[in-house]
Amino acid sequence: MGWNPWNAFRTDVDETKVREVAKAMVDNGLAGRGYRFVNVDDGWALKRLPDGRIRIRDSMFPSAAAQGSVTGTFKPFTDYIHALGLKVGLYTDIGRNTCAQRWDAESPNLPVGTVAERQVGSYGHAVQDIRTIFADWNFDYIKIDACGVADYTPDVAPVKAGLYQVAAPLIVRGNIPASDPREVEHLYAVLGDAVHKWGGEDATMSICAWGEALSPLWGKARGNLWRTSPDIEFTWQSMLGNIDSVIDGALYAGPGHWNDPDMLAIGHGDFDAAHLTEARAHFTMWTIMASPLLLGYDLRKSPAALLDIVGNPEAIAIDQDPAGNQGVPYRNGAAMIVVRTLSGQGARAVAFFNRGAVPIAASVSWAQLGLKPGTAATVRDIWTKRDRAAVSDKISVNLPAHGAVLLRVTGKPSNPAAAWLDEMPARVNVAVDGLTQATALPMGQFPVRVGATPDGLPIRANGKEAQRGIGAFANSRLEIRADRAFRRFVVAPAVLSGQQPVRFRVYADRKLVREVVAGPAQAAVPIDMDVTSAKIVELVALAPSGPARPPMIAWGNARFLR
Ligand code: GLA
Repeated sequence: MGWNPWNAFRTDVDETKVREVAKAMVDNGLAGRGYRFVNVDDGWALKRLPDGRIRIRDSMFPSAAAQGSVTGTFKPFTDYIHALGLKVGLYTDIGRNTCAQRWDAESPNLPVGTVAERQVGSYGHAVQDIRTIFADWNFDYIKIDACGVADYTPDVAPVKAGLYQVAAPLIVRGNIPASDPREVEHLYAVLGDAVHKWGGEDATMSICAWGEALSPLWGKARGNLWRTSPDIEFTWQSMLGNIDSVIDGALYAGPGHWNDPDMLAIGHGDFDAAHLTEARAHFTMWTIMASPLLLGYDLRKSPAALLDIVGNPEAIAIDQDPAGNQGVPYRNGAAMIVVRTLSGQGARAVAFFNRGAVPIAASVSWAQLGLKPGTAATVRDIWTKRDRAAVSDKISVNLPAHGAVLLRVTGKPSNPAAAWLDEMPARVNVAVDGLTQATALPMGQFPVRVGATPDGLPIRANGKEAQRGIGAFANSRLEIRADRAFRRFVVAPAVLSGQQPVRFRVYADRKLVREVVAGPAQAAVPIDMDVTSAKIVELVALAPSGPARPPMIAWGNARFLR
């Protein structure tokens, strides 16, 4: 949680503004509610010096000008932010050049000098830059962009004109086969290693590759949050696209590693103080998706009505729930109903969201909430700040155009002894996803999903459509953190596509406990095994590998028993 100046100021990000916003965050109570990062984005670097160090643009950051130093230092600035009790972040790029150099070409605050001097991205300078940023300047957070390996190809006018060095495109936007995911991951890994070396275990690394080059699938191994989409624009339509880029990715998020559908657009355009319905709906979706909450408007002059939204303590508590489960969606026309398992027995958050411009009704059943039919639940409305009348079978709401309702529901689990995998996505690690270049998926489609096949169709168990479970490709391996909390593991594996048999193996702490084989026309024998002292349970599905895409499979109705 925090603030980033990009959406408000782009490269016009002078030190006074950032300091004043940080101070405002403390004074208006947002810092106390959990907003703790103040991040500087693109625009701070003046030039790269012959010895490889970067000179800070001290006309924008006057406190950085230091007697006898050619680079200047951010230390007075970071000291100021730290003294407010906040943390502070900076920005770089995995390539030689940043995004603003390409996309904000008219900005007066771009790097200056020769082609080499204007190479302020960290390519070839990973260790030097990261050491300076964390060890010398004392930052806590780094956002690492990727335009330098995407947008400086030979056909680009400023590159043709000799303004920038040509960079082989490791990312071709929207085109995974033409991109080089391995090399992009490698560049982030080099920077990530340096971040941990110089920033320590608490340092935060944000991967900004807009969901390209399969970054949501490997982001967890290299950083703490990773963008899943292009930059948010201040329109409803753009925000919907960002939601869709992340909504099916619950199995990739968890404590310390988060899908990032981008900074909040609240305070701008379709989400300004004249559009409180939309602003609330936007915030509702970010909280139910366990997304980073990075504000992006000028907090020195925030309308009170917007502070009430972004500072709502009960909404923030849902976003920050310690179990770290990202919500899982049900779709019904324009309605999205997203259920998120919270920590605490029988506690769930549910968001009802109207994508469209026509009012609709929506409901969620006890089965969808994993509650025992006929038993009462307490229902707290997060935006009206009232408890709703107790109900015992379903919850129905009316949603205005672009409206959302956010509830915290506490009830009796359908089977208190059962812990369903789809209610604990944060405990699942997709160790191997079965994906090959031939199966590379469009953006927003995740190869391992809760309650659906990788392409969004219903999963099956025991020859029937399954209510619950996990869909995946074969040749995948999932690790589940059982933490010795459970007694048995029960699952009905199924093969959902292809002609070949699939071998399903379940391991407890690396020991193979059960193996069953099934083909597309033949239901697998359900597995029911002892996991009493297991810390990690692994689910492996193996198919003969070939050039074709692996068959899709399901771990149907997968659950632990306590
Ligand atoms: C990219 C990023 C944005 C912002 C700009 C800065 O577009 O996705 O979030 O950091 O670069 O130039």
